[in-house]
Amino acid sequence: MKNFPKLLIVLLAVTALASCADKKPATLAEAFKGKFTIGATLNKGVYSGTDTAAANLVIRQFSSITAENCMKQENIQPEKGKFYWDEAEAFVSFGEKYDKEIIGHNLVWHSQMARWFAFEDGAKFEFIPGQRPVFPPYCSKEEFLERMHDHITTLVSHFKGRVDVWEVCNEILEDDGTFRKSPYYNILGEEFVYLAFQWAHEADPDARLYLNDYNMHIPAKVDTYVRLVKELQSRGLRVDAVGMQEHLDINNPTVEEFETSLNKIAATGVKVYITEWDMSALPNPYLMSAEITNRFEYTPETDPYKEGLSAEQSKLWNNRVQSFVECYLKHADVIDRWTQWGTTDATSWKNGFPIHGRTDYPLLFDRACQPKPVVNWIIANAQKF
Ligand code: XIL
Repeated sequence: MKNFPKLLIVLLAVTALASCADKKPATLAEAFKGKFTIGATLNKGVYSGTDTAAANLVIRQFSSITAENCMKQENIQPEKGKFYWDEAEAFVSFGEKYDKEIIGHNLVWHSQMARWFAFEDGAKFEFIPGQRPVFPPYCSKEEFLERMHDHITTLVSHFKGRVDVWEVCNEILEDDGTFRKSPYYNILGEEFVYLAFQWAHEADPDARLYLNDYNMHIPAKVDTYVRLVKELQSRGLRVDAVGMQEHLDINNPTVEEFETSLNKIAATGVKVYITEWDMSALPNPYLMSAEITNRFEYTPETDPYKEGLSAEQSKLWNNRVQSFVECYLKHADVIDRWTQWGTTDATSWKNGFPIHGRTDYPLLFDRACQPKPVVNWIIANAQKF
């Protein structure tokens, strides 16, 4: 009898533990617990609170958030020395309030650069929406180094200890694995990569840092990223991961192509982030790319599901997503995060890219914020992997 209370406590503890273990995941965040974080990409409607349905979806289903536009250079420093923090603050505060992993996108990118940033007359540039870009000549190398240092240092320091991960360089390579001839490369050569990583790390030593690009299934492209990771490592610079954007379409690339690239990155010892995932359900009559200046003409044939996705295409889409997710789960030791580019089909950039005005179905949640069949499959099965 003396032992009764002790016994009772043990019994209660065992029952509690058993019922915990039995608790089935109810959301994506729970389904991927212990494997990798699951991210959404937020536009202003979500973090400013006007799109409450999307905000509630992110709060409930996702464990990580990326800034869709508010941290890009043209938005955050549109004129030299003038930083506009309000939107980025709202984004970061949203993440802090709901305890999400926070991703900063991005520090170096040739697209959505501030118009003044690389050019001799840039310092005099006054931002007027719709105004034409400032054209070459570029500013001097010394001036560019100073501007780049200021931009990275100011942005990363401002959010020191609050942004968990910074995307340092985005889309710096061509598909053939050579450097993109961006102002960064044209002015500084390859050194801009190492300087960007050094300055980001100096501004927040605890932040994780990574390189990011699309079409990472192309061997020549991923091979150069492997070389760059090794070079960063040999210079003693912090690099935590390579981001594979994964803007997929309904046929390309194959899971095997993805996996081959993932294995090459993993062999360097850094992690893989899947950073901008979406899978277009629409026909793709053009070269696969996520270069945002690529645009193609609208024709009705390129927009076949205006009134809703056919059952057949929906099945194809869900099955194809499932085969990728099975691969992600298989490599959960290497993959640290899977982020979809957007929140729901309603606001996905794919409705406007690379053809304006189409109706696409690329994300995990539909226009009514409802999960696609594959999401229910994930929630029921992810923990079995
Ligand atoms: C896109 C945004 O989703 C759009 O809202 C914006 O108009 C253009 O940029 N690769 C990237 C992202 O790294 O920043 C791009 O985001 C999509 C392609």
